[in-house]
Amino acid sequence: MTDTNRRWVLANYPEGMPTESDWRLEEAPLRDPRDGQVLIRSLYLSVDPYMRGRISPAKNYAASVELGGVMRGGGVGEVVASKHPDWKPGDIAESMGFGWQEYPVLKGEHLRRIDPSIAPIQSAVSYLGMPGLTAYFALLDLGRPKPGETVLVSAASGAVGQVVGQIAKNMGCRAIAIASSEAKLEWCREIGYDGGINYREAGDLGAAVAEMCPSGVDIYFDNTGGPIHDAAMQNLAMKARIIICGMVSLSDKFDQPDIGLRHNRQLLINRARMEGFLVSDYADRFDDGIRQLAAWHGEGRLKFREDVMEGIESMPTAFLRLLTSENFGKQLVKLGEPSG
Ligand SMILES: NC(=O)c1ccc[n+]([C@@H]2O[C@H](COP(=O)([O-])OP(=O)(O)OC[C@H]3O[C@@H](n4cnc5c(N)ncnc54)[C@H](OP(=O)(O)O)[C@@H]3O)[C@@H](O)[C@H]2O)c1
Repeated sequence: MTDTNRRWVLANYPEGMPTESDWRLEEAPLRDPRDGQVLIRSLYLSVDPYMRGRISPAKNYAASVELGGVMRGGGVGEVVASKHPDWKPGDIAESMGFGWQEYPVLKGEHLRRIDPSIAPIQSAVSYLGMPGLTAYFALLDLGRPKPGETVLVSAASGAVGQVVGQIAKNMGCRAIAIASSEAKLEWCREIGYDGGINYREAGDLGAAVAEMCPSGVDIYFDNTGGPIHDAAMQNLAMKARIIICGMVSLSDKFDQPDIGLRHNRQLLINRARMEGFLVSDYADRFDDGIRQLAAWHGEGRLKFREDVMEGIESMPTAFLRLLTSENFGKQLVKLGEPSG
């Protein structure tokens, strides 16, 4: 067992697109847990687009990381030492509080217990965790899909998007994917999407959406913002619902207002509803969501693709892949295996 904890700290608040030099890898002494705390060995760290917001000083729904502070992020790992009555060495735990580090020390009450016999442990940060729950609650609660409706999804092959498309199919909808490559669209079709649009090759994106969605878009699940959002807004069906889930296409303009068209007339004409979504608002219903997602997965009605890099050194690279469309599926970084 090592006596050092390697961890990434924030070196700069980037202006525009972040680069690897915005973080610094440091070594710190391993810390013993105090009363109520647990020392964990990180096994998988999650990288997520929301982290762009944590490295900006701009006002957001959660605080920024301070300069020199450990980069925030979720993970799943194995308990090494515990001063909390509910946790013992060998237990597997998940939390949004790991940070980009090998050995987080966390309060026992903030950890979620993971049963490794139910699903691979990294599922706890993918389809049975934050991205899966985002797809589940945003589509079902805000979108309220009805059989026969058309659901259009941007970043459709990603951690959230792949789950949205499959839930839409499970609800009897037509699901249309938007992604950056033929390989990603092919995967989307394999998991059930009825069709797809390559936004890099489509030319007139509004016309491409019109062609794929001839009766209009009933639900637009917006993971990107930007020009894809505009193309969806030009094709709304009556009573359309637009779910604002994320704005990953604007990562290089984080502190600036959104770009593009103003859509008030489209909202008015179609009596449409546009609503922002934040997964943490649904925390008291997470267990229900996880049960349903696990059931669909068990029935073969929810497949999931991961994109795994290895080693703590990979964290900034893995994160930047999300902002440049290089990831293909849920981006994770693997640091180790459970000891048992
Ligand atoms: N509101 C919430 O509670 C909540 C929770 C979780 C996630 N989210 C949001 O959901 C979205 C998806 O997150 P995720 O974890 O599932 O990530 P992801 O889709 O696995 O990865 C990000 C994807 O974004 C797409 N992208 C990157 N730059 C783009 C650009 N300039 N134009 C269009 N697409 C671009 C890429 O897909 P392509 O190859 O298709 O370009 C990339 O693979 C993000 O916006 C995230 O912030 C929100």
